[in-house]
Amino acid sequence: MAKIRLKQLLAFLICLENLLFLAECARDEEGPYQGKYIGKLNSYHHQVSGEIYAVNEFTLLLTNFNYDGDGLDTFFWAGAANRPGPQGFIVPDEHGNTNVLERYFNREFTLTLPDNKKLTEIKWFAIFDLNSQNNFGDIYIPDEFEPPMAQRISTLLKRSHNVTSSSIEILDSKTIRIPDLTYDGLGRETYFWAGVGPQPSSKGFKIPDEMGYLDSIRKYDKETITLELPGDKTIFDIDWFSIYDLELKENFGSVLISDGLNVPPSLVKVFPLKQSLPNCRQLHKKLLVSWEVFGPQITFQLSGQVGENEYMSFGISGSETSTQMIGADVVVAYIHGGRGFTTDYNITSLAPCVQVLGQSKGVCRDDLLGGLDSFQLNTFAREDGINTLVFRRTLISSDPGDKVIYLDHPMQMVWAIGPLDSNKEPAYHDLYPKANVIINFNSTEPVNDCVSFTMGEEPVPEVWDKSQIFDRAIRSFNAVLGPAGGKRGYQGITGHVSNGLAWYINGLMIPELWLRRGLTYSFKVRGGNNPHSPEYYHPLVITDEPQGGYDRLSDAKQSEIRVLAGVEFTRRGRPKPTAAGPLCLGRYPPNYDRRLDDNFPTFKKFNKTLRFHCDEGDPAILEITPNSSWPDIVYYNSFTHANMGWKIHIVDSYVRRASAGTTGTISFLVFIAALTVAVSRLF
Ligand SMILES: *[C@@H]1O[C@H](CO)[C@@H](O)[C@H](O)[C@H]1NC(C)=O
Ligand SMILES: *[C@@H]1O[C@H](CO)[C@@H](O)[C@H](O)[C@H]1NC(C)=O
Ligand SMILES: *[C@@H]1O[C@H](CO)[C@@H](O)[C@H](O)[C@H]1NC(C)=O
Ligand SMILES: *[C@@H]1O[C@H](CO)[C@@H](O)[C@H](O)[C@H]1NC(C)=O
Ligand SMILES: *[C@@H]1O[C@H](CO)[C@@H](O)[C@H](O)[C@H]1NC(C)=O
Repeated sequence: MAKIRLKQLLAFLICLENLLFLAECARDEEGPYQGKYIGKLNSYHHQVSGEIYAVNEFTLLLTNFNYDGDGLDTFFWAGAANRPGPQGFIVPDEHGNTNVLERYFNREFTLTLPDNKKLTEIKWFAIFDLNSQNNFGDIYIPDEFEPPMAQRISTLLKRSHNVTSSSIEILDSKTIRIPDLTYDGLGRETYFWAGVGPQPSSKGFKIPDEMGYLDSIRKYDKETITLELPGDKTIFDIDWFSIYDLELKENFGSVLISDGLNVPPSLVKVFPLKQSLPNCRQLHKKLLVSWEVFGPQITFQLSGQVGENEYMSFGISGSETSTQMIGADVVVAYIHGGRGFTTDYNITSLAPCVQVLGQSKGVCRDDLLGGLDSFQLNTFAREDGINTLVFRRTLISSDPGDKVIYLDHPMQMVWAIGPLDSNKEPAYHDLYPKANVIINFNSTEPVNDCVSFTMGEEPVPEVWDKSQIFDRAIRSFNAVLGPAGGKRGYQGITGHVSNGLAWYINGLMIPELWLRRGLTYSFKVRGGNNPHSPEYYHPLVITDEPQGGYDRLSDAKQSEIRVLAGVEFTRRGRPKPTAAGPLCLGRYPPNYDRRLDDNFPTFKKFNKTLRFHCDEGDPAILEITPNSSWPDIVYYNSFTHANMGWKIHIVDSYVRRASAGTTGTISFLVFIAALTVAVSRLF
């Protein structure tokens, strides 16, 4: 801290000195970095005042800006002539409009020059009245002004573990891009690490990896990644960046960051930490847990940057020696319909809760298992996209099925963030730790490594191509199971919450099928036929609603659904699946990290990494002949679990569909392609 202060002070002094020459002061001593300071507006009329920064090559930031709004024909005006005058152009206002300016009182906003003009191409910026040719206030851009820009610094200086990169880029005051990063992944407590001082040392702070994790970093093989400095830290707070091993206190590779880099300010918003309890652990960039033990009770605060329909979960690992979801005793915390929930769950397998021979298995609420809901909710709030729930439990719960929270030794914990399904049950988690999460709840000495949440623009991963099977010659479909493939796969394609598995039909993940009424098609189903398995028992069904999981639905919901194939009803009216075949499953290779699914550009490449294994035995055959009573769109799914399949279009003839006119361009193009194939087959 002391070092940073000194550094800031020095920068400030240099700044003051420079100020006498050029208005080239990089930043104030206090407050967040806002860009390169150009100076104060010269004020002539109408109470114009304010300060001006350059944000980047094209953009100005105005702070504390005032103008009384009384000019009749007044605009933001800029030009390349020697002094403000009629030769110039309008700079659109903060909303991008070119209206006559109204009143401003102590406002802060950015203005971007029009037509990709650069700050280096103008000599002055003014508040100018065009009708009266009156200059109300102005500022000159110094000669040879250099606006802030992304800066390239040197490469990572290799020391060990094959750490290399191309030239590192500082994109803005919080963002570091490392092109072609290579690291062998063999360190055990190795982190992206930064700090102050002449060279890397164990005194520093962790930078979350490109996915926001704080775990020991993985292997990288010539990958380009982007890191964001945590909390309110900026590039001006650090002297070096390193890939550093805390266990060995060894620098595997590093780069020095020079002072006063002329980079744009970060656009990321920082939300100050709201933490009421004395201890705090940052579990992920988007999740923290805070706690306090008082007598036989422990109070927790979970805060997470989650979507409205997402849950946070935290609890005691299923294993005493490592972080393990199976067997874990967790709280699932979420906010829905103006209410907070902290529900006690027991995880017996990595699948949604299902009834297996009268027993609930999977991720199940304790009260479903005959246990107690052991958490008491104190408070909850959702603010700035951050959910915060405070709740408590006794260390030794009165429910013997709950795990004990010990104070005499550190404990293995688990956590996760994921979407809630349509029943407000936790679905497959998106964020979860790979490394062990060890917390000592008896902190006679309070621990706290939490930082402020930040929010920038998150790129939405592009969805893999939606596949379709539109070929009148294909009358039989092989239905097997495979992984649902992250945000670009099942979730991206359907917009539904996945449970981790999806149907693969004829080698494609959840293709849309086009079937003709009156023709007979057969599905060769291999989705598992062992009803004792909570994860891998998936008879195929076809119904008129998209979600599936027929068996899990209430009688009332079942009665609203039209089952077209795959279910028969017993004499007592219970549904029984008819198409359960041996399991054929595409699995990830050993040691694969499914959190990297989104890195695959196409399904084809993703599919190549999978290992398909099929149990012996003939598939179950589900034969269907859609007739005129079938709706135009039906869905194939699993009998037991929701959200594994997708659409079947039922058409009267492949040809009539075109003359009727398809609206979706994609399906139309596919149709044309298929038609061409179909037509060429005729001849
Ligand atoms: C390190 O790099 C060398 C050559 O570049 C390569 O032969 C070796 O396999 C790498 N080691 C690891 C652990 O990746
Ligand atoms: C949770 O599951 C375990 C078996 O994995 C069981 O021993 C325990 O009693 C269950 N807890 C509750 C509350 O049902
Ligand atoms: C908590 O830690 C302190 C100091 O390490 C120890 O003396 C005390 O026994 C611990 N409390 C419990 C309940 O184990
Ligand atoms: C996916 O992999 C399976 C098995 O290797 C293969 O049969 C299938 O054609 C692949 N699908 C695609 C679209 O490449
Ligand atoms: C049409 O299909 C449904 C569902 O497969 C079947 O129950 C019904 O008997 C069929 N109707 C005719 C007229 O074949």
